[in-house]
Amino acid sequence: MNVSEAVASRRSIRAYTEEPVSLDTLRRVLDKARMAPSGCNFQPWQATVLTGEPLKALQTKMLASEPQDPVEYSWDAPNQSPPHLARLQTLGASMYGAMGIARADAEARKKFSDANIVSFGAPALLVCYLERFHEAPQWSDMGMWLQTIMLLLREEGLDSCPQEWMAMFARVIKDHIGVSDESHILFCGLAIGHRDEQASVNTFERERVALDDQVRFLGF
Ligand SMILES: Cc1cc2nc3c(=O)[nH]c(=O)nc-3n(C[C@H](O)[C@H](O)[C@H](O)COP(=O)(O)O)c2cc1C
Repeated sequence: MNVSEAVASRRSIRAYTEEPVSLDTLRRVLDKARMAPSGCNFQPWQATVLTGEPLKALQTKMLASEPQDPVEYSWDAPNQSPPHLARLQTLGASMYGAMGIARADAEARKKFSDANIVSFGAPALLVCYLERFHEAPQWSDMGMWLQTIMLLLREEGLDSCPQEWMAMFARVIKDHIGVSDESHILFCGLAIGHRDEQASVNTFERERVALDDQVRFLGF
């Protein structure tokens, strides 16, 4: 698989088969991902990967918990901006539409959204966090690392879904994996597994902004 194929075939997968993911594969992917770039070569990302019993136990704790207050961080500020809100609404319409869930069916929408707790059935979950003193540039480094992982997972025939939703349970997660809430902020989860090819939620079309609406070329 070349890079273009990995980029084109990656999508956020929200239904998985039960096929497990081996430690060897994950170590190979995460070892390669160490070469992701970061400002000042800080490599600010840190993570814990769970599967099997530790993952089940975490999911049980999250199911028994309420979303935390105060929030770990806010991810929905762009919703105040009409074009960004429109993109979110288009995503919702495409995703729920693919599953035959009506816009007005708040209960079914919430039920699907709650499936974030079990990472949509993925057999492995990576949770990533960074020390609290890091700022926006280091958060962006974390994103580059995650995308590197997601592309390398494609090369291994694996799929993923980033889950900032997990930040609603950041303290429960950190407590479970033994990471200090005082010193670390949790960014997101990354569900990892094999895509369920039959699931309509894995095949809907994702809208993207046209190239010339997001990049300007000067001097060519
Ligand atoms: C940092 C980050 C956090 C995300 N969090 C969630 C999440 O909590 N739950 C979810 O279903 N999708 C989540 N997504 C997936 C996005 O909705 C998805 O990337 C976007 O709609 C584009 O679709 P694609 O990934 O299939 O190309 C997240 C994506 C990123 C990059």
